[in-house]
Amino acid sequence: MVKLTIDGRQTEAKEGAMVLDAARALNIYIPTLCAHESVSAYGACRLCTVDITTRSGRNRMVTSCLYPVEEGLAVKTTTEKIAAHRRMLIQLLLARCPESPELKAMAKKLGADDTPFPKEDPAKNHNCILCALCTRACDEVVGQSAISFVNRGVAREMAIPFYNDSDACIACGSCFYICPTNAIQMTDKNGKRRFVMPHNTMEFELAQCAQCGRYHLPKRQIAWMAKKSGQPLEFFARCISCREEVRL
Ligand code: FES
Repeated sequence: MVKLTIDGRQTEAKEGAMVLDAARALNIYIPTLCAHESVSAYGACRLCTVDITTRSGRNRMVTSCLYPVEEGLAVKTTTEKIAAHRRMLIQLLLARCPESPELKAMAKKLGADDTPFPKEDPAKNHNCILCALCTRACDEVVGQSAISFVNRGVAREMAIPFYNDSDACIACGSCFYICPTNAIQMTDKNGKRRFVMPHNTMEFELAQCAQCGRYHLPKRQIAWMAKKSGQPLEFFARCISCREEVRL
């Protein structure tokens, strides 16, 4: 175990743990937009920046989701400098996605009512902050890598490769659930699951429950689960409610 202090509180963390995890274990709040326990750290939003002083006395700001705990580290999660830094970062994100309710709420929390930076056309980025949570979830959790970043520099955006419908997407909605700014919309209607993504719209057929007839999971997801689990397709033929009924 590694001993360190966070905001003056002594704590221990497992070797290799990140400062953000150690702070959260102490219930210390550090704002984040691109961190999630299900996927690897990426360091896109930089909101989790904290002030550290190493045992040898070196002082600097680091992103806590990517910085591993060290013996004797002293971490400060709230200083005036950190607060100003986070405010500027959220204002930059707000300039990119000026209509995002989630970013507005975070900005308010960080003491910024608006952004002094030139605002981009909301239709350009569709509330996507390029945090890569969707691509990491699709890649690391689902294992499909159906979405990714395309283009470089200021033209960088999250999309289905070549902007076509994806053969790899199983329509599970992991990207929708994990997105911190609701940049991906998902609706189930008339037997179809529809995704409206910043630069793609896709539709997938839903399967009907063999017992009650309600639409439940996307057919592609059922095929994927059958393949992964080695169970026959019929195993997934009934919806969750009908399966529960049988169990009771
Ligand atoms: S949460 Fe650490 S950089 Fe986004």
